[in-house]
Amino acid sequence: MSKIAVGIIGLGTVGTGVLKLLMDDPRLRVKWVAVREIKRPRDIDLSRTRVTDNPLDVVNDPEVEILIEVAGGVGPIFELMRTAIERGKHIVTANKELIAKHGAEIFQLAQRNNVTVLFEAAVGGGIPLISTLQRGLQANRISRVAGILNGTTNYILTAMEDRRIGFEEALAEAQRLGFAEANPRDDIEGFDVAYKTTILASLAFGRFVDVESVYRQGISDITDLDISIAKEFGYRIKMIGLAERRPEGLDVRAHPMLLPVHHLLASVEGANNAIFISGSAVGDVMLVGPGAGQMPTASAVVGDVINLASALHLPDFAPYFQPAIDCEHSRACPIEDSESAFYLRFEASDTPGVIGNLGRAFETHNVSLHSLLQRGVTRDGAATIVLLTHPTREAGFAGALREIESQPTTRRIGIALRVFRQPA
Ligand code: HSE
Repeated sequence: MSKIAVGIIGLGTVGTGVLKLLMDDPRLRVKWVAVREIKRPRDIDLSRTRVTDNPLDVVNDPEVEILIEVAGGVGPIFELMRTAIERGKHIVTANKELIAKHGAEIFQLAQRNNVTVLFEAAVGGGIPLISTLQRGLQANRISRVAGILNGTTNYILTAMEDRRIGFEEALAEAQRLGFAEANPRDDIEGFDVAYKTTILASLAFGRFVDVESVYRQGISDITDLDISIAKEFGYRIKMIGLAERRPEGLDVRAHPMLLPVHHLLASVEGANNAIFISGSAVGDVMLVGPGAGQMPTASAVVGDVINLASALHLPDFAPYFQPAIDCEHSRACPIEDSESAFYLRFEASDTPGVIGNLGRAFETHNVSLHSLLQRGVTRDGAATIVLLTHPTREAGFAGALREIESQPTTRRIGIALRVFRQPA
């Protein structure tokens, strides 16, 4: 049987891993690799493939049946993917931003051109998460997907907790060890988790969710003090992606949360990812594993390529792989409509009446306090106050926070974080 010709767009860390795995596969031939800089020395043998710096060479080659996109980005890559689909190429991509922002258009175009788009590596790195949702759990109505979806932030938060170091030091360490990108904004400000959660929500609930409507908060304002006080209260802080079906609509968000220390997600450390899926028939399933890295991500990409290559020999296989998602976008519920318990850290002048003012602000907005702690006084006479509320309406907490912020004794709001809520 002749080998199936594939082309790879992008030969960075993941692309190199993909090529390593595909080079000796008897079913496939890597005909093309498109790179940004042809002359750059590389740690891989390129003698058996054609190398170009023009991705259209790959897209326009009629022999290429599967295009592997591991370049990342959305602008020009989206255009390129559109052209490839119109030329009848099947696509395997690791690009979460592309799928989260343009998934509806891409899948519609793929359907019209009778090709398949697979994206296992887009969420959860090496964990077979997309295929679990798309195929393994098909018999279920999924009510909730919640998890740690970003290895960089999990590494940073674990390092801050284990070694009592600050955010900047933990970030620098993650960058030195190759966990964090040189430009870590997407990871630490929560964009990466927002993209991944949007994709999971779309698959779990069968409707594309508008990524712009997904609430997002990063981890850069979290201090080692937050981590140690959260621990005293019985929690660990984790960056969480959450997608939940609620009577009011879809609750989809990406932000750090306080997790009870005994929750299984709280024990996931370092660069790992972990995802809880709640299904109507199966109950709760948890998947854990490497969420990033060269070979784990390449494992997911090449798994898709091999699945596709096997299916290419079957008649009319394409619909089998199409995710059943309604291409009309729906918006996530506004965060103001949700309910959480909150953690708040702020600085106030250490003068009489501060706690009384605080109590009144919460009383006015019908928010009940769970715990309250005043720790130390800074050189300029400010006291750090940390508190936990009982579960409350988001709008109520936001109202109390505005009032606290406007009190003359308040110096600075440090951070407000939500506490993880078990499903009812
Ligand atoms: N930047 C991501 C992370 C890896 O830190 O988990 C790719 O999704």
